[in-house]
Amino acid sequence: MRAILVKEDKSLVWSEVPEPTPRDGEIIIDIHAAALNRADLMQRAGNYPPPPGWPDWMGLEVSGVVSWVPAGCKWRVGDRVCALLGGGGYAERVAVPADMALPIPEGISMVEAAAIPEAFATSFLNLILEGRMKKGDTVFIQGGASGLGMAAVQLAKYMGGKVVTTVGSDDKAAFVRTLGADVVINRKKEDIAAVLAQHPVDVAMDSVAGPHLGACLATMARGGRWIIISTLGGAMCEIDIRDFFRRGVYLIGSTLRSRSSEMKAQILDSLRDQVWSGFTSGKIKVVIHQTLPITQAEKAHAILEKQENLGKVVLVVKE
Ligand SMILES: NC(=O)c1ccc[n+]([C@@H]2O[C@H](COP(=O)([O-])OP(=O)(O)OC[C@H]3O[C@@H](n4cnc5c(N)ncnc54)[C@H](OP(=O)(O)O)[C@@H]3O)[C@@H](O)[C@H]2O)c1
Repeated sequence: MRAILVKEDKSLVWSEVPEPTPRDGEIIIDIHAAALNRADLMQRAGNYPPPPGWPDWMGLEVSGVVSWVPAGCKWRVGDRVCALLGGGGYAERVAVPADMALPIPEGISMVEAAAIPEAFATSFLNLILEGRMKKGDTVFIQGGASGLGMAAVQLAKYMGGKVVTTVGSDDKAAFVRTLGADVVINRKKEDIAAVLAQHPVDVAMDSVAGPHLGACLATMARGGRWIIISTLGGAMCEIDIRDFFRRGVYLIGSTLRSRSSEMKAQILDSLRDQVWSGFTSGKIKVVIHQTLPITQAEKAHAILEKQENLGKVVLVVKE
């Protein structure tokens, strides 16, 4: 089969690779579409290797058709699924633990389905499980127009939250308002902490962190949960601990990719139980910025590199 390999000069080449060999409890999916994530850019740069046991090539989420199952499996050959992967999605086929695949929600296309698992599982893990978000909470999401932000803003609204989010342009501000965001901060023009002081945050999903984190934490609601999931804005910051401990604020670090397959399966189960009806009812939309053929993976990466995307970018492997 073929997969996208990263060559020494960092170019992406559609190359011959060995067929996947399923381990106990794994199924094989014939991939139709694979969605991009910023982690792919980091992996391509050599900074984010896949967890042990997964293919070397990029790709954290796919949609497709089950083409092989072990005896006694809950899936049948021919089932349409989407799946969360530790890697290996930029390819024609992938072997994946049966529990890391989910049925494609009714009315959702293969392209849309590929863009669900990573963004929505990350949002669910952080807002609901780590953040213990409940109806009426004020939820802060960095990068509301990103692939992940598109999912998080809608999930927080679906769960009854008030959403405050950041964007880097006026176009993106208009976009996140269509997703339901209540308060939109243009990070290039406004002081984020000053706005948050007007809207004390109960739960934050923060992919930026950096030097402004301390000032933002100082505005949190009592007992608020601030979850750091990346450091796009930098890794160092100063925090006034006095203010922090008096208000009982929780600072939490979280990654989805490094969790065990069992834990990921639990997250996916809860996601299906609590959120799938949002897709089928049309209350939650999977917003696709652009689709490109898998052979144009470099062009697709450039969209994320330039921070142009409103929602997800998807590679089509098979029409
Ligand atoms: N820990 C986890 O489990 C986990 C899981 C999934 C994703 N993530 C992280 O979440 C972030 C979003 O992922 P994604 O796939 O949705 O990415 P994406 O679609 O490429 O979006 C990233 C967006 O972040 C915003 N941003 C803010 N400050 C930035 C900066 N200093 N440099 C670059 N971008 C900046 C930009 O939007 P604006 O210009 O509109 O601000 C950019 O478009 C990534 O950092 C990713 O690694 C973490």
